[in-house]
Amino acid sequence: MARLKMIMFYCFFLLFILITHSASAATDTIFPNQTLKDGGTIVSAAETFELGFFSFKDSPFRYLGIWYKKISPVTVVWVANRDVRLLDASSMLKLNNDGNLQLLSVSNTLVWSSPSSINLATNSTPVAQLLDTGNLVIRDDISGNIIWQSFDNPGDTWLPGMKIGVNHIKGINLTLTSWRASDNPLPGSYTVLMNINGYPQLYNMKDGSPFQRIGYWNGLGFSGMLGLGPSNFYTFESVLNLDETSYIFTLRNASYITRMLLNHHGSFDQLVWNPDRESWDLYTRLIKYECDYYNVCGPYGNCTILKAPPCACFEGFEPLLPEEWSAAKWSNGCKRRISLTPEKGHKFMMLSNLKLPDSQNSLFNSSVSLEECKNLCANNDSCTAYANSTNNSGGGGGCLMWSGELMDIRQAPQGDDSGQDIYIKMARDKKKPYLKVILLTISAGVILSFALILYSWRKTNPNNKGTPLANNDHKQDSDLPFFSLNEVVKATSNFSIDNKIGQGGFGAVYKGVLEGGEVAVKRLSKTSRQGIVEFQNEVICIAKLQHRNLVKLLGCCAEGEEMILIYEYMPNKSLDSFLFDKSLLLDWPQRYHIINGIARGLLYLHQDSRLRIIHRDLKASNILLDSNMNPKISDFGLARMFKEYETEANTNHVVGTLGYISPEYAANGLFSLKSDVFSFGVLVLEIVSGKKSRGFSNPNQHDNLLGHAWRLYNEAKPLELVDAALQDSCTASEALQSIHVGLSCVQQHPDDRPSMSSVVHMLGGEGSLQPPKQPGFFTEMTKPKVHSSLIMPQFPISINKITITELDAR
Ligand SMILES: *[C@@H]1O[C@H](CO)[C@@H](O)[C@H](O)[C@H]1NC(C)=O
Ligand SMILES: *[C@@H]1O[C@H](CO)[C@@H](O)[C@H](O)[C@H]1NC(C)=O
Ligand SMILES: *[C@@H]1O[C@H](CO)[C@@H](O)[C@H](O)[C@H]1NC(C)=O
Ligand SMILES: *[C@@H]1O[C@H](CO)[C@@H](O)[C@H](O)[C@H]1NC(C)=O
Ligand SMILES: *[C@@H]1O[C@H](CO)[C@@H](O)[C@H](O)[C@H]1NC(C)=O
Ligand SMILES: *[C@@H]1O[C@H](CO)[C@@H](O)[C@H](O)[C@H]1NC(C)=O
Ligand SMILES: *[C@@H]1O[C@H](CO)[C@@H](O)[C@H](O)[C@H]1NC(C)=O
Ligand SMILES: *[C@@H]1O[C@H](CO)[C@@H](O)[C@H](O)[C@H]1NC(C)=O
Repeated sequence: MARLKMIMFYCFFLLFILITHSASAATDTIFPNQTLKDGGTIVSAAETFELGFFSFKDSPFRYLGIWYKKISPVTVVWVANRDVRLLDASSMLKLNNDGNLQLLSVSNTLVWSSPSSINLATNSTPVAQLLDTGNLVIRDDISGNIIWQSFDNPGDTWLPGMKIGVNHIKGINLTLTSWRASDNPLPGSYTVLMNINGYPQLYNMKDGSPFQRIGYWNGLGFSGMLGLGPSNFYTFESVLNLDETSYIFTLRNASYITRMLLNHHGSFDQLVWNPDRESWDLYTRLIKYECDYYNVCGPYGNCTILKAPPCACFEGFEPLLPEEWSAAKWSNGCKRRISLTPEKGHKFMMLSNLKLPDSQNSLFNSSVSLEECKNLCANNDSCTAYANSTNNSGGGGGCLMWSGELMDIRQAPQGDDSGQDIYIKMARDKKKPYLKVILLTISAGVILSFALILYSWRKTNPNNKGTPLANNDHKQDSDLPFFSLNEVVKATSNFSIDNKIGQGGFGAVYKGVLEGGEVAVKRLSKTSRQGIVEFQNEVICIAKLQHRNLVKLLGCCAEGEEMILIYEYMPNKSLDSFLFDKSLLLDWPQRYHIINGIARGLLYLHQDSRLRIIHRDLKASNILLDSNMNPKISDFGLARMFKEYETEANTNHVVGTLGYISPEYAANGLFSLKSDVFSFGVLVLEIVSGKKSRGFSNPNQHDNLLGHAWRLYNEAKPLELVDAALQDSCTASEALQSIHVGLSCVQQHPDDRPSMSSVVHMLGGEGSLQPPKQPGFFTEMTKPKVHSSLIMPQFPISINKITITELDAR
């Protein structure tokens, strides 16, 4: 219990920030030679913000910071001494005669100070004041000039009225820097900054490399970015002039309380205070989809949100490295099918509704029209594309021209018109000049016809006949290699027991070496399955399912009785070994990443692939992890190959794994997409809790994992479900969201469970979360004797009437 409390504290540390209030009357200013001692605070005029000393729960260290005066849990928006923490509560803040604030420790050591000022006129008096915007300013009291302000030294929070960008006059960069952890304001890995090369744009950098390109504000929104679009309560403005290049974020109605936070996981969130619920609601999260990361699809790659796979090449382009590309490595992007050469004429291809490419290599002139822009681009060999104005609020009229490769392009989703049009320079087709040559020179024509005859002769006499299995039509419409049984036998040392790495429901799995690479070989069991031709058709279909969260099928073999599938080899273990073996701990960001990955893989199987596959045996041991801990669903599509599972209605033979199968499936053999959703929900609760659904026991209560989660949820302490080992890395909002999604997925009635597309949306922080109803298999009061954790109180059917085949792999 104590450990669980610790987790809750880490998740909600802000609740527990300790502030020692002074009883004295509030003032918003500090005058020279005055000191603010630890324990004292100053409060802005309308009591919006407060400045003083605070520490995090269970920590003796003190920080000087600014927080919302009237909001509880205490929310700190700025910290002065981020790098050096104060060791005790005997420090003080002092404004000296030169107009700089100094934070001094008990031994008078300078811990932090505002930059010393050269702007102060002789005989003027400086004064420090905390404004109602949350800005701490030092003014020359006579001229009123601002000498320094905390808004020029941003932390991890972007408040309304604050600028992010570059101030060329002062020579300062206004950037946001994340904290190291939610209770450690040391500068972390992420920085939001303005890149002023080419047309200025905002980036979120991770350790100095682009993590996400937020892009440019075009007057109506950030080009192609969802979420940060026009809003009825805030607006962005760009200030682009010789003095500064910056964006300012302002409220349309000052009665709203909102802030943008670059959190320590790199997520850049807009949060809005909800006074009724007394909590910060997530209004927008900038990273939600694969395509939100920087340059996922490489140069000239078209990244499409919620499409699987997300990357494609634009028309007229092809993958630079086709093999890598088909193996879901997209970072090298696409190249032109016909390269641009200076001599040839050009045409421009218009692409619509895109997040415009990275503008680091671009030129901008706001007084050039679109027509002129086209001419400028056509006549400049280094120009590769141009676009209409980026300033929609100015009614267009600008010209943006790119040189070099076009990076980080994204298709705005359908129904979202935040994207913009771009014109890409393309080489003209070669056909026309080619025909001219034929007409002009007879000899060339003769050579050409000869070549054509040669070509058609070769086409009708292919010299490679292939293996007997490979030469049927399938080979043409799939790139899936067929291997001979001989090759597979050799690869696995004749299915040697030493090479066996697992036993799944559909057969044994062996490690092997084929064509120099490691592979996993699945030898399908011989019972109850279809014939060779159907097998091949099925395999070819499944081979076309490609998604980064599905294990990749590399080839197959079908000879005689043998039907064998060859998959990519996953050096890391399956999820169950990581989850339930305490020596291989997954931290919270990894777990959250895994939950999201499985959801996307399953969404693809259910909805986005052309086959609509119900997995039917989703469980931790069927989730494999690659070397980067990306989850990959395995064994998908196998149920389709086995004849007796073909009908979509009742079967009297239930396939699945105890602890994961849905009540309607276990009881009546009814399965649907929603049975997979149920298994997914169980998996989510297992990932969050680090506990097995099957064999879960709680000494105090007689409930199973689902019941336990449900009980905690109803007792309003859902976070107690979180694995005690996650105390350092847990993000409460994500954990809560996952628990909520998990419980929604395991609801007893299939119709109540969300579809996988709503699950993906909910995990992305979108859509409303309905309170879940009671899960299936919940009211378990006694330990079951025969069938372990499987109890169906809502289905008064004798368990003996159905056959439960346990398919517990590995
Ligand atoms: C602050 O103290 C210094 C030295 O103690 C003194 O010279 C100065 O006049 C004081 N300033 C104010 C504004 O009181
Ligand atoms: C501002 O950022 C630019 C680019 O990252 C860097 O070259 C420059 O030194 C920075 N200036 C300051 C004052 O930090
Ligand atoms: C601002 O919002 C408050 C509360 O929603 C509303 O009462 C007020 O009329 C709004 N003010 C303006 C100027 O829109
Ligand atoms: C990008 O890919 C998506 C999905 O394949 C497609 O609908 C869209 O038309 C493509 N965009 C362009 C500009 O080619
Ligand atoms: C922008 O275009 C106008 C009109 O063509 C030209 O006079 C001006 O010099 C250009 N500005 C820049 C910065 O190139
Ligand atoms: C052509 O474009 C490049 C890069 O965008 C630029 O540096 C160069 O000045 C342009 N040349 C002319 C003649 O406009
Ligand atoms: C966009 O157009 C508006 C209206 O013409 C203008 O005030 C603003 O400065 C322009 N912004 C940029 C970045 O050109
Ligand atoms: C480009 O901007 C002009 C306004 O200058 C507008 O009329 C036109 O529709 C825009 N064209 C495209 C393709 O967005």
